[in-house]
Parts: sequence; C-alpha cells; structure tokens
Amino acid sequence: MRHVLSNTIRQKLNNIVIKSKFLTSLYVKYMHGFVHRKKKKNDYFSRGNYGVPDVFDIVAIETTDECTRRCSYCPLSQGNTRNYLPEEVVMKVLTELKFKKYKGAFCFSNYGEPCLDNRLLLFINLTRMLFPDAFINMSTNGDLLTPELFRALIKVGINEIDITQHGAVEPTNHRKLKEELTKEEKKKIIWVKLDENSILSNRGGTVKVNSKRIPKKICYQSTLIIRANGTVTLCCHDYFGEITLGDAKTENVFDIWFKPENVQIREELYNGIAKKYICKKCYLFQNE
Ligand SMILES: C[S@@+](CC[C@H](N)C(=O)[O-])C[C@H]1O[C@@H](n2cnc3c(N)ncnc32)[C@H](O)[C@@H]1O
Ligand code: SF4
Ligand code: SF4
Repeated sequence: MRHVLSNTIRQKLNNIVIKSKFLTSLYVKYMHGFVHRKKKKNDYFSRGNYGVPDVFDIVAIETTDECTRRCSYCPLSQGNTRNYLPEEVVMKVLTELKFKKYKGAFCFSNYGEPCLDNRLLLFINLTRMLFPDAFINMSTNGDLLTPELFRALIKVGINEIDITQHGAVEPTNHRKLKEELTKEEKKKIIWVKLDENSILSNRGGTVKVNSKRIPKKICYQSTLIIRANGTVTLCCHDYFGEITLGDAKTENVFDIWFKPENVQIREELYNGIAKKYICKKCYLFQNE
C-alpha cells in the first residue's frame, strides 16, 4: 500500500519555507529547474516519436462530471453537472490517438466520480487493447469502489488507482478495500487524505482554501483534458471551462492542441506570463 507524503508533514514543510525569503527563493529556483527538465524531456520524447516538440504526454478523459460528493475545496460543489461523454467521442479520440501512434499515458478522471459511469470498464478495456503499453490510471473518492469493481478494473488493464478520503470519516468501501485486498493488489493503490486544512490548489481562484502556497511563477501544461461535455480545457483546475481550447466532438485532438493561440498560451505560462483570469488567480502565480 503506497501513501503520498502525509498532509501534516507537507504543511509543516510549506510553513517553514514560506516564512524564509531565502528558502522561498531556493524552492522557486528548484521548481523552475524541475519544470524546465520536465519540458525538455517531453520535447525530446515528442520529437523522437511524433517529429514535433510539445505533444501532450497524458490524456485525461473525464467520462462523467457527475459526483457523489460536494467537497468544499472543489469547484464542482458550485455546480450540478451530469454530463456523460458519448461513447462515439471516446472512440473518436482513441482513434485519433492511435492513428498518430500516441505513446503517452491515460487518466480516466478529472472532475466527477468515474465509478458512477457504468461504461468505465468498457472504456479502459478498449484503451488497453489499443494501447497495450500505456500507463492507465484514475482518481476516485472510493465511495462506489467495491473490491469487486477494483478487481475488474485491474483485469481490464488499469495500472494504478488513486483513492482519496475526503474529510475525517473513512468511507465503508475504503475500509473494505483495506481488509479484503491482497498485499499485491494494494500495491496498485495510492491513498490520499484531504480535508479543508490540507495543502490544496485554489483551482484557479474558483475555491477558497486555507493553505497558503508559494507561487512558482511558472506553469507547464502537458495534459490533454477531454471534459465530459466534449470540450478540451487547458488545465485540470479549470472546472468552469474559462480557457477552452477546442471541442473534441468536432475537432481532431492534435489540431486542437496545436492551434497557434493554444500553443501561445502554453508558451506564455511556461515563461511566467499569466494573462487569463484563472491563471492570474492560480496558486502557481498568486498565494492567496
Ligand atoms: C477532482 S478529483 C476527481 C476524482 C474523484 N472525484 C476524487 O475526488 O478523487 C481529482 C483529484 O483531485 C484531488 N483534489 C480534489 N480537490 C483538490 C484541491 N482543491 N487541490 C488539490 N487536489 C484536489 C483529489 O484528491 C483527487 O486525487
Ligand atoms: S473532489 Fe472529487 S469527490 Fe470531491 S466534489 Fe470534487 S470531484 Fe467530487
Ligand atoms: S496557471 Fe492557469 S493553466 Fe496553469 S495550472 Fe494555473 S490555472 Fe491552470
């Protein structure tokens, strides 16, 4: 069973760094180096595999934006969306990716609860058949994730499932998974615990969070996000679709990604220029 660094430790570290100008500048410098290396690596990989730099390395498919919860630190709590991405759009996107011999990863979640979608196994199965070597994961709140569904997801080819406990109460299914799964099966899980006091993203200023974070003044986007309504957004924080790059229902996903205006937004953010409202308000550029 894998756990990410505990919230308490992250909070303590964050608070120590934020109080010192020296540690803050060191942290920002380190993060810039980290982001530059990540982009360089992805550009190299993209050139080698597709002949051009800057191809996305993760495709996130939000098959539904309906959710079982309304977490206070999630913009979904301000909406009541119940979109289900039509099967033909999922097929269209997978076909476009296959045609270009896409070599990156897949994530079957964004906003919403993926386990509410009874086509989830079918979509993952299909993706695994088309992309035998791809890394496939998803994030879930675990409300509906029974040991049986967990095993079925593994069987159709998912590599990893991130399970978040929202708040202090451990949902019944989390307990059942911990009790019933084998040690080997639990290796496929990343457990996360979140509450109002965790180090959170303010989702481009759309939610109020208690944590103060150090602005890195750099943003590197390399995930293609297909929303449940078929649109493509620049970033996972953009629940309301302020920066919509295109529509996967009618446009080829590579054409959307490489529209000059979309390339320009990504380049500006990578160079520390945040022009759009949500980016100006984002924890990456502002610490309130
Ligand atoms: C938006 S959720 C959607 C999937 C599922 N409903 C869930 O809660 O896991 C995707 C991921 O975002 C994380 N998350 C939710 N709110 C967050 C916030 N304000 N800041 C950072 N991460 C957040 C969750 O822990 C989860 O791993
Ligand atoms: S964080 Fe996940 S569980 Fe909570 S409201 Fe958002 S999508 Fe739903
Ligand atoms: S700066 Fe903009 S694109 Fe980057 S993470 Fe923040 S909201 Fe998203």
